[in-house]
Amino acid sequence: MSFKINDSVTWVGKIDWELRKFHGDEYSTHKGSSYNSYLVRGEKTVLIDTVWRPFAKEFVENLKKEIDLNKIDTIIINHGEPDHSGALPELMREIPNTPIYCTKNCVSSLKGHYHQDWNFVEVKTGDKLNIGSKDFIFIEARLLHWPDTMFSYLTGDGILFSNDAFGQHYASEFMFNDLVDQAELYHEAIKYYANILTPFSKLVEKKIEEVVALNVPVNMICTSHGIIWRDNPLQIVNKYMEWAKDYNENQVTLIYDSMWDATRKMAEAIAEGIKSTNNEVEIKLYNTARTDKNDIITEVFKSKLIIAGSSTINKGILYSIDGLLEMMRGLSFKGKKAAAFGSYGWSGESVAILNEELKKGGFELIDEGLKVFWVPDEAGIEKCKEFGRKLAAQL
Ligand code: FEO
Repeated sequence: MSFKINDSVTWVGKIDWELRKFHGDEYSTHKGSSYNSYLVRGEKTVLIDTVWRPFAKEFVENLKKEIDLNKIDTIIINHGEPDHSGALPELMREIPNTPIYCTKNCVSSLKGHYHQDWNFVEVKTGDKLNIGSKDFIFIEARLLHWPDTMFSYLTGDGILFSNDAFGQHYASEFMFNDLVDQAELYHEAIKYYANILTPFSKLVEKKIEEVVALNVPVNMICTSHGIIWRDNPLQIVNKYMEWAKDYNENQVTLIYDSMWDATRKMAEAIAEGIKSTNNEVEIKLYNTARTDKNDIITEVFKSKLIIAGSSTINKGILYSIDGLLEMMRGLSFKGKKAAAFGSYGWSGESVAILNEELKKGGFELIDEGLKVFWVPDEAGIEKCKEFGRKLAAQL
């Protein structure tokens, strides 16, 4: 499969309908993904990025139907992670001397992955590649989301090839933002930002300001995953600017795990308490053992208050909430409040541990937390509701 994006650019990537896990088991892809590769024809012909290794043979075979491989003058690799570079070994067997334009860090990444001394040409911000009447301008985008990442901007057409930035793990036969379901598209885009780009929000802001300062038209943003932004492409740039500024919606999320339902009962009573004080805030509850971790992270990203709960087990907290808190620590959310709760029967350490973990994750603790002995009775439920009312008052 290939399709034209305009007179000079053809999509030659791979839609991966079956993908359900990405980055090992770190990212759920309920709607599959795509590995977008682009063939740009000018006086010179350029291939931008490739696809993940399982599709390498298919990619090269399809590319041969599109062009005589020997007519590819240059390969641009915007980012060396294997979902974009995985077909390089297969391709370079056919055209071993073709120059590969990428950043210095990307050379290191590609050598580290494939142990080949290909014809690398290191580029940095401001460097250009002339392809006739148009140029590619390279813009390093370190840590968005790896240190080797760069954007490539094609003059004349005004296309920003942004690699992972502005992408989504979203397989769709339509491939353009104006043709797909907008709620699905934005759900996948915010999930992608929340789970991958949150730690780099300050750099996102800076990079966008740098691209805006170039004062060049952006008629299209061609990402490396998911759909291409061709209708008002700056809408996703504006969204990124919003998301990068310690983003919160009017939402409270309770995340908990529970051995015998006592902590679940607490969670529901706390939610009732919040609702009785603030009828407008959206309240969501997730049992972390039963809900996809990346979907929960997306809800955490949208929330102004996180309330974490766990029973105590072996003087610690339950496995699923522990893992989630570790993910949250790594993502370094900013500007969010938090509190903890949990039931216990014997030693009762869970709330103190949750408090510590939330603090490590950069959350502002707004209460010392609530412990309930065994299963909450009527008085215990009332305590939980009161806890919810107290937290709601601080929103
Ligand atoms: Fe889509 Fe960072 O690779």
